Amino acid sequence: MLLFPTVAAGIIDWQYYYSGAWINPIRMKIGLAILLLILLSITLITGRRSTVRPFSMALLFTLCLVNGISLGYFGGQLVYEGRLPAVRDELLPGRRIFINHCSGCHANGGNIFYPNLPLRSAPQLESYETFIEFVRNPRLPDGSKGPMPAFTTSRLTDQQARELYNYILVGLAKPIRSGN
Ligand code: HEC
Repeated sequence: MLLFPTVAAGIIDWQYYYSGAWINPIRMKIGLAILLLILLSITLITGRRSTVRPFSMALLFTLCLVNGISLGYFGGQLVYEGRLPAVRDELLPGRRIFINHCSGCHANGGNIFYPNLPLRSAPQLESYETFIEFVRNPRLPDGSKGPMPAFTTSRLTDQQARELYNYILVGLAKPIRSGN
């Protein structure tokens, strides 16, 4: 019955880091947890019966195993993304865009190529206009082309860029540096 403390700890973490936000991995986890509970009960009840066929037991065990693996998968997704600070619900779409497009190189608002050019204090964050201009056509401070890929409208729509910008400002940004 180790299950109960684990579930309780999970719920407390969720309230703490995500302020109980009803995001997708959470939904999946809760669904899977309920399913696992049902599966385990069926397995226990079936296992007690003397007439049970080995095949049914094997099937039930496999289902429990698959369920456990999926739980682990969504858990991993949460822990990985959990390295970013929690934000209000309306910033979650922007946060998702950040995770999909930017966090690989700008984990936690930093910059893995040029630690001295962290995103979180970038002068380009000063206004949405300077931000979008940069993202569509990134340049190093000396004006040359650096490793950052250009994000065209097909990869990142203006609408998505707005959400991304709002998320970065509220969720990640530190006071902006003056110039580069
Ligand atoms: C492949 C790695 C990579 C990805 C992905 C990436 N960047 Fe960058 N970013 C960089 C590098 C490297 C620089 C330095 C400038 C350059 O290369 O043009 C940079 C610079 C920046 C700067 C200016 C930082 C400063 O302090 O001068 C901003 C703002 C920025 N990126 C925003 C973003 C946003 C927003 C995304 C996601 C839509 C993104 N980046 C995705 C690598 C990346």
